[in-house]
Amino acid sequence: MARSARTCVIGLGYAGLPLAVEFGRAGFTVLGIDTDKGKCDTINSGRSDIEDVSGTVVAALVRAGTLRAVPEIGPADHPDTINICVPTPLRKTRDPDLSYVVSATQTVKTHLRPGMLVILESTTYPGTTQEIVRVILEETGLKAGIDFFLAFSPERVDPGNARWNTSNVPKVVGGLTPDCTQLASALYQASIDQVVTVSSPGAAEMVKLLENTFRAINIGLVNEMALLCDRIGIDVWEVIEAAATKPFGFMPFYPGPGLGGHCIPVDPLYLSWKLKQVGFDTRFIGLAAEVNEAMPHHVVNKIADALNEHGKAIKGASILLMGITYKRDVSDVRESPALDVMTLLLRKGARVSYHDPLVPHLDAERWTGGLQMDSMPFSDAHLTAADCVVVLTDHSDIDYDGLAATARLVVDTRNAIRTRAPHIFRLGAPNPIA
Ligand SMILES: NC(=O)c1ccc[n+]([C@@H]2O[C@H](COP(=O)([O-])OP(=O)(O)OC[C@H]3O[C@@H](n4cnc5c(N)ncnc54)[C@H](O)[C@@H]3O)[C@@H](O)[C@H]2O)c1
Repeated sequence: MARSARTCVIGLGYAGLPLAVEFGRAGFTVLGIDTDKGKCDTINSGRSDIEDVSGTVVAALVRAGTLRAVPEIGPADHPDTINICVPTPLRKTRDPDLSYVVSATQTVKTHLRPGMLVILESTTYPGTTQEIVRVILEETGLKAGIDFFLAFSPERVDPGNARWNTSNVPKVVGGLTPDCTQLASALYQASIDQVVTVSSPGAAEMVKLLENTFRAINIGLVNEMALLCDRIGIDVWEVIEAAATKPFGFMPFYPGPGLGGHCIPVDPLYLSWKLKQVGFDTRFIGLAAEVNEAMPHHVVNKIADALNEHGKAIKGASILLMGITYKRDVSDVRESPALDVMTLLLRKGARVSYHDPLVPHLDAERWTGGLQMDSMPFSDAHLTAADCVVVLTDHSDIDYDGLAATARLVVDTRNAIRTRAPHIFRLGAPNPIA
């Protein structure tokens, strides 16, 4: 594809901004659209609010006039391609919330022209590209696959992963027609190392759901293993480490306080919702969700056991939570199980504080406990003042063995602490003997 094509990315978050930057680096002009004006200002001033996207690269693209972020497409912009990377969360009822996709598609509809390429990247249930995006765009009178090109290509970004990024993770593409697939592939080939084509948008939508359902179910399995190992006095971490030496047929997954982030807890429910429409009950998905959603409760039980050994109750105890984001080395607290643990402890009357170098401040509206909180400094004074220190997210650059040596009582849900001592309790391992 000639680099003269004017590309446009709608939604400049964890998925959209890295893509916009890759298009820019490949030599395309990129128009970034985000309804969050603050985000546009950040990008236009040459900064990045996404850890994996370098501010220096954003600044260079903005300076060169290659990347520009605005809240809406202007009448003179005339993009040739549009990638939709907006959120696909769940409603309170746990059903898919496609309102962002619908709204972004309405934006595309207003600017749709013959020959334009439209690609949906938001994770969603199979059928969305055909049943929602296509239907809205065809209200213009233009026909998908004839007058304009339409495809689905799942975003596979893994925030915080230093090895795999937007440019070196193969890109799966499924177009409405072979021409749609070919054109979408040509766009990605300019900036992404490998493009893998499938026969339809539905197959491409399903690829992403298979990947994330695979993770959700395997995490559910290993979480159940942790609970049963705990019950029969075996160290699940030792078992996983040894099992992972098998060179074939085994892939290690690790237990923890529950599932978090925008993808793994949410995406499988998109699939089960869709299947419910045709009377199919996705039992594995339901079971894994049940096990994973119970993990914060098990962590709280472990904390109660640990405090009990020290003659204390949760009520009135001072509990310091280490790491509250949904995974290591990212600043994202969306759906983080640490917030569930926090809420459960507060409800039981604990005095809860946290330390997270990536979350200096926790907004009340981000979590169900409804309190504003600031991260405590990581200091010996705070560690010794706590009745119990709980490792929930094992960010790098924290001296966990130093923490274990200083704190009076520790519950480790990530196997971050190598020291074994009577005051260190671990998820999925027998309680230490005093
Ligand atoms: N975060 C991840 O790790 C990840 C990985 C793979 C796939 N995905 C998928 O990518 C999609 C986007 O997720 P994300 O994590 O990037 O979300 P995000 O919340 O980080 O970013 C989405 C952005 O879209 C903007 N937005 C919302 N509606 C808009 C509209 N109508 N017009 C313009 N901008 C709009 C928001 O302001 C926000 O900045 C989701 O479907 C998600 O499941 C995310």
